[in-house]
Amino acid sequence: MLTASARTDQSDSLQETFLRLPAKPNRQLDHLPGDYGLPVFGHTWGLLTNGPRLTAAMVARYGPVFRSSALFQRSVALVGPDAAQFVLLDPDRNFAARPAWDTILGGLFDNGLLLRDLDDHRAHRRVLQQAFKKPVLDSYCQTLNRFLGEGITAWPSGRHFDFYPAVKQLLLDNAIESFFGADPARDVAPLNRAFIDMLDATLALVRRPLPGTRWRRGVHGRRALECYLASQLDARKANPGNDFFSTLCTAANDESGGLSDSEIIDHLMFLLFAAHDTTSSTLSSMIRILCQYPQWQERLREEFSTLDAAALQTEHFGALPQTDWFFRETLRMHPPVPAIIRRTARACEWSGYTLPANTAVFLPIRFNHRMEQFWSSPGQFDPERWSPGREEYKGHSFQWLPFGGGAHKCLGLHFAEMQTKIFLYHLLRNYRIAGDQKHRPRIRYVPLEIPGNGLPVLLSPR
Ligand code: HEM
Repeated sequence: MLTASARTDQSDSLQETFLRLPAKPNRQLDHLPGDYGLPVFGHTWGLLTNGPRLTAAMVARYGPVFRSSALFQRSVALVGPDAAQFVLLDPDRNFAARPAWDTILGGLFDNGLLLRDLDDHRAHRRVLQQAFKKPVLDSYCQTLNRFLGEGITAWPSGRHFDFYPAVKQLLLDNAIESFFGADPARDVAPLNRAFIDMLDATLALVRRPLPGTRWRRGVHGRRALECYLASQLDARKANPGNDFFSTLCTAANDESGGLSDSEIIDHLMFLLFAAHDTTSSTLSSMIRILCQYPQWQERLREEFSTLDAAALQTEHFGALPQTDWFFRETLRMHPPVPAIIRRTARACEWSGYTLPANTAVFLPIRFNHRMEQFWSSPGQFDPERWSPGREEYKGHSFQWLPFGGGAHKCLGLHFAEMQTKIFLYHLLRNYRIAGDQKHRPRIRYVPLEIPGNGLPVLLSPR
C-alpha cells in the first residue's frame, strides 16, 4: 500500500539501483590497504573471539581505511567519526542499508524499516514515527513501570542466578505484551518461543529449511508470529489498545493512507527484533559495571531517592543527571551494535581511496567510542566525562553513535532510554547487586555484545 504510492514520488532510477544490488558483495578490494586473513575463513576466528582486539590490530597496522574478510564476506572498514558522518549522512546517496542487513536478517525480518532505503524508507519511517511520539511513549511508561517493577521483585534474592537469561525473558514477555498487545496468560509463551527461534536463525550458517536446522525453526517461528498477528488485525483496528500494534493499525499517513496488513506485520516483527537484544545487551553491561563499581550503585540510588516516587516518569529524567551520564557512558564503552554496516550502491571516494560499487563497508562504532583523539583515557569507565564542564562528547557530532545516525538513526532510542532507566530505578531502590567472585565476567562480541557466561549475580534486599 504505502510502498506503491511512495514509489511514484521517488527518483525511480536511484531506487532501482539500490534494489538491484547483487546479494553477494564485490570482492575486488586488493587496491586497498589490509589483508583477508586465512584462506576461506579470513579473520572469522578473530572476529568471533575478540572483535574489538581484531579491529584495533587492523587499524594499528593499516590505518583508518582497511579491507578485511570474515564470515565468508569481504568488506572495508571506515574508521572514525568523519567516516561515520560521511556514510550515515550520505549526501550523495551512495550507501544502501537493505543489501547490507539483508545478509543477516533476510528471510526472517524482511521489509523491516532498516531493510528499506531512500524514499520508500522515508515514507515508512514517517508512519512508524507515530508509535514513538511523546504521548504514546508516556502511556508505555506506565506499563513499563508496572511490568519491570513486578518482574524484578519476583527474581530470587539471597542466591546467585544468571542475570542475562532472566532479563532477556523479562524484556521479551514485556515486549510481546506491549508491542503486540498479546494476552499474557494465553499468548505470550508460544509467541516467545516462536520469536526466540527467529532470533536464533539469524545466526544460522545453513540458510535452507532443512529438517532439524535452526533456519527451519526460525522460518516456522516467523510463520507462527505472522499467523498470530494476522488473526488479531481486525480486533486491533476495531478496538485499539496501548500497544505498538494498535498504533500502527491506526497510524494515518496523509499522503498514503497508512500501512497494508502485511506491512504492519513486517514492521512489528522487525521492531521486536530491533528492541530486544539491544536492550538486553545494554542492561547486562550496566549490571556488570554496577557490580564492578558499587559506588555507582550508591550514587544512582541516592539520586533516585530525591524523587520520592513509586514510579519513574519521563518528566523525572531531567532531575537525574548522574543516571544519564551512567546510561551514556555504558553505551560508549559497550555499544550493543558494535559496527554499522552498509553497501555502496555505486562507486565513491573516501579519504583518497575508491570504494567500488556493491562494496560491503562497516563503521566500527565500538572502536570509535574509544579513540584517544576524542575521549580522555577511553578505556576507563568515567561517567563524569559527560558532566557540565567536561562534556567530552562535544568534540565531534558523530563520535558517540550507539544509536547510529542519519536517515536510519534508531527510532526506538527514547523507548530504550525509558526502559533502561525505569529498570535501574526499580532494581536499585529495592536491591544491592553483586557479581559472582567465582566466575570472572566474560563477553561475547558477535552478533551483539552479551555476557558469555550468563552473568551470575546476587541480589540482596535493601
Ligand atoms: C539500547 C538499545 C538500542 C540500541 C543500542 C539500538 C541501536 C540501533 C542502531 C545502531 C540502529 C541503526 C542501525 C543502522 O543504521 O544500520 C538502530 C535502528 C533502529 N532501531 Fe534501535 N537500538 C536500540 C533499541 C531500540 C528499540 C527499543 C527499538 C524499538 C522499540 C528500536 C528500533 C529501531 C528501528 C525501527 C531501527 C531502524 C531505523 C530505520 O531504519 O530508520 N531500537 N538501532
